[in-house]
Amino acid sequence: MNNQILFASSNMHKINEMKLLFEKSNWKIISPSEINIPKLEVIESGSSYLENAVAKIIAYENFTTLPILADDSGLEVDALNGYPGIFSARMGGQNVNSDTERNEHLLTLLNGIINEDRSAIFRAILVIKFFGGDMIVREGKISGEIICKNRGNDGFGYDPIFELVSGETMAEIGNRKNDISHRAKAAQALIYSLKNSEKDIISK
Ligand code: IMP
Repeated sequence: MNNQILFASSNMHKINEMKLLFEKSNWKIISPSEINIPKLEVIESGSSYLENAVAKIIAYENFTTLPILADDSGLEVDALNGYPGIFSARMGGQNVNSDTERNEHLLTLLNGIINEDRSAIFRAILVIKFFGGDMIVREGKISGEIICKNRGNDGFGYDPIFELVSGETMAEIGNRKNDISHRAKAAQALIYSLKNSEKDIISK
């Protein structure tokens, strides 16, 4: 049994991770482009990850009756009182437009902060909404530290500046990211819930 779930994202990095995370479940993640849904720009103006994830789902609802999955994630730096958090995708305003620029901007904000005070967490909120309205929300997080200079070529976003307790950055661990990351933890919890309520959900 392989039930399809539409993943409400055009971020290829997230799509690839999500496909791998659901690979061993009874659910198959498909991207919008695989069912000819055009690329949608969703404005993340919510005041929480949950609101932003739901906004992504709403944007895709008119295009499908499949269950829709959305992910909203962010990096929360303790020395910056949790910033960028829900602003992680648009930190630094209009002059900061790429992952590299966002990393540089964050490192500038942390200039002068010593290693011991550079703790941070990655958080991911996953929401799945079924046609008819049922929703499941799951969260995952992982602790680490923001280093002073990028390391590693895997992953995306803030991965090269996020150091795990192992001493590696999230961009240095390849596919092991899919065992331990914030997104992996949220996906594992979601798959568990889907498995345990599968019969109910499918019959609706
Ligand atoms: P959003 O969830 O698409 O709004 O992404 C928030 C921001 O966090 C973007 O700048 C992403 O590049 C970044 N981000 C999301 N997930 C990850 C991740 O797994 N690793 C590194 N950066 C991430």
